[in-house]
Formats: sequence, structure tokens, C-alpha cells
Amino acid sequence: MSTYYIWTVGCQVNVADSGKLAAGLRRLGWEPTDAADHADFIVLNTCAVRQQAEDKAANKLESIKFLREKNPDLRVAVMGCTVGPRTDELEARFPFVDVFAQPQQFDKVISVLDMPDDDTGGEFWPSVFPDGDSESKAGSAFAYVPVIEGCDKFCTYCIVPLRRGRERSRPIAEVRREVEAHVARGVHQVTLLGQTVEAYGKDQPAVVAGTEHADLFDLMQAIHDIEGLSRIRQLTSYPPDMTDRILEGMAALPKVCESFSLPVQAGDDATLAAMRRGYTVSEFVSRVEKIRQLMPEVGISTDVIVGFPGETEAQFQNTLRLLEELRFDKVHVAAYSTRAGTFAAKRQPDDVPQAVKMERLHAIEAMQKAIAFAINHELWGRTLPVLVEGMKPGREAGVEQVTGRTRTAKLVHFDAASGAHGMGDLVDVRITHTHPWSLRGEVVPQATPVSAGLAH
Ligand code: SF4
Ligand code: F3S
Repeated sequence: MSTYYIWTVGCQVNVADSGKLAAGLRRLGWEPTDAADHADFIVLNTCAVRQQAEDKAANKLESIKFLREKNPDLRVAVMGCTVGPRTDELEARFPFVDVFAQPQQFDKVISVLDMPDDDTGGEFWPSVFPDGDSESKAGSAFAYVPVIEGCDKFCTYCIVPLRRGRERSRPIAEVRREVEAHVARGVHQVTLLGQTVEAYGKDQPAVVAGTEHADLFDLMQAIHDIEGLSRIRQLTSYPPDMTDRILEGMAALPKVCESFSLPVQAGDDATLAAMRRGYTVSEFVSRVEKIRQLMPEVGISTDVIVGFPGETEAQFQNTLRLLEELRFDKVHVAAYSTRAGTFAAKRQPDDVPQAVKMERLHAIEAMQKAIAFAINHELWGRTLPVLVEGMKPGREAGVEQVTGRTRTAKLVHFDAASGAHGMGDLVDVRITHTHPWSLRGEVVPQATPVSAGLAH
């Protein structure tokens, strides 16, 4: 039996792509292996969001070069965001790679295997996962489901639209079939994925009279009644695409979790304009206020870039103030670095000294730690439904350490002393300890694990 090994870095979109590829390879009769040196086919699914990610792929390729020298029959493919429309440079640097494929060019990846290519086409191939596979984590209670590809926003610093192309949405019926297939093999929570997920449906026909096209709410409604599906999440949000219709609809659907990943990137209008983010600070604030009005207990995380070209101390202070005012549950902060090929790389000189960037980054981290601690502390003593997502042996013999998440995406740890818990069980947990980045609790004694398909 021929075997494949897929190595994945980058965001959940890449993880989902690798899952798709793995499912397709299994359909073609290939078996997964966890060891690159035992594989007949190695695929590196790469990320280009930062230099560090590209370096990681280059290092991995260096180690694969030796495997290829030992085994000339080994086939090697590189796919994902490091591969642009032109591949001459990559080909010259890594001549032993059989094929370079842009994100989701699955047919190109498969072409090196000399398989009959009757069903290896299309960016969403295979249209539905046929069964479990290693990359989509067979036995997992969770699945990522890409629903919209690409991005039309063209923020000046970002490589994604240049590598993943313009926005394209999958038909609702196709997404539903895929979610049903996941649930049939034990998945309880799906995360609908897109770079700007609320842009979903702009190219899909309207399903409700009076609307111009389908949207994320229509999609969520279309999968909401799937029996056995317990929670629906979405990732990543983009403020101008978050219409009132979508937000109000989400708030009304019980399986949709009160949790958003909503990057702000900067809290200063001039910096946002320089980034071409497409909104002002007050427009961003109005979306957060709308979400919090509809879902008062919502968990919101955000992303921030510090040291963007031209960012002054005063502009940075505006960002810091906004974060203090909006009190996010989590802030992912990154120091700006140039990505070759972007508008910023060509036209916006990287002029903030590295030391200043790091000072700003640490200032945000320190402030956020205190905010996150205070937010989590308010949960002390509360009993929350937690969906189990991992188990490992605890310090005490026979007591498993269980990890799960609340509806608002808070990580909760607890001992499984009062009974075994399975992946995807919903368990009531009383919070006994709070930390900035996680919570600890105990199973409420009278509660029994609830099959995740049941209401909660
Ligand atoms: Fe990149 Fe901006 Fe699109 Fe996000 S919204 S993927 S940052 S271009
Ligand atoms: Fe990286 Fe591409 Fe995702 S650049 S972060 S893998 S969309």
C-alpha cells in the first residue's frame, strides 16, 4: 500500500486544505503515515504570512532533500501560500521537488502520482469527506469546514489575497453535505472558515425573498438542524461584512456559539487607513457594541499589528486606549514585518525600529494580561457547559485531565474523577480557579456527561 505524509503549517484554512487532500488521497487508495521517512509521497502545506513560517518550510525541505537522495522514487509536493503564480525561484532553490501547487490546486498535487485523474479536480475536491483520515483527525469531535475561499480586501501588508485569490463561496447544499458527513463520523462542533467569513455568499443565490444573495446566517440556518451537531463557530470576522442581519440571525440560533475572532489591527484611524483595512475605529466599535448588545456574554478575541510603517507613539497610544476600552478576551499581537510582494513592501518603508516595536508589543501584552485575568475572574463560581476536546493522564493514578471549551471559547481544565468523559461530551463544570489564559473547575456532582447532540 502506498503511503503519504502531509506536513502542515499556517492557519486553520491550511489545516482544512490538508484534511481535504488527505481525504482525497485515501479515496485514491493511499494510506497515511506519521513518519516522513516511511512515506512514498510527501506534501508540505506551507504558510507565507511571516518570514518565520516560510523559513520553517525551507528547513523542512532541506531535511526532505536527504530522503529524496536515499529514495529516488519518493515524490515531493509543496503546496499552500508560499507558492505564487510564478514558481521559477522555488524550482531553482528546491530542484528535487516534483510539483509546486498554489493553495487548493489539488489536481496539480495529485498529478505527480500518475493516478487516473477522473476525480481530482476543483479547489474544494473532494466535495465531501468520504470518511475519517489522519489530517482531519479521525475520532475528533471537531472539524473545520472552509465555506469561503480567498479575500477581496487587499490590506496593504497581507499576502493572502495574492496567494489565495478573490472571494469564492461554496454552495450551501455542498457545505451541508460536508457537515453531515463530519457529524456522521462523530463530529459535534464545526467551525465555518473563511479569511473574512461574513463575506460568505455574495456569489451564491438568495435563499430568502428580499435578500440579494445568500449570507452566513442563511448558511448557519441551513446546517442548524443537523442532528448530533452541537456547536457552530465561525472564523475569521471582518467588521464591514458583519451585517445586522447576520449578527441578529446568529444570536437567534442556539447552536451558534457566542464567540468571535475579530481582528482590529490598530486603534487609530490614520494607521487603519494606511493599512487599508476598510473601516474606521468608530465603525469597528459599533460592530463590537452590536455584538455585545445581542450576546452579552460573548467572548471576543482580536489581532493587532504594532510598528506598522509610519506608526507614531501617539497613534500607538490610541491603539492601547482602544484595547483598554473594549476589553477583549484575548489579543494576539504581532510586530510588523514586511512580506515581499505586498503593497506595503513596495510602498510603505518599514521605518519603526525593532526595539520600539517590541516595547509596544510588550505594553499590549502586559495590559491584556490584566484585562484577561479580570474577565476570567468574573467566571469564578459559575457553572458552565464545556465541550470536551482532549484528555490525558493526570498526576493522580486513574484520574484523567480533561480539557474543553465553553461556548465563549474559554479553555477549561478539570479532573475526570467523577466518571469517564469522551471527546465531544458536554459536561457542566463549576469554575474553581481562574487564570488569564485558562480556567480550572470541577464537574458538577449531579451532572452526567451529556451526549453533545442534546440541547445545552
Ligand atoms: Fe489579509 Fe486583510 Fe484579507 Fe485579512 S482581510 S486576509 S488581513 S487582506
Ligand atoms: Fe498562512 Fe496562507 Fe493561512 S499565508 S495564515 S496559510 S491563508
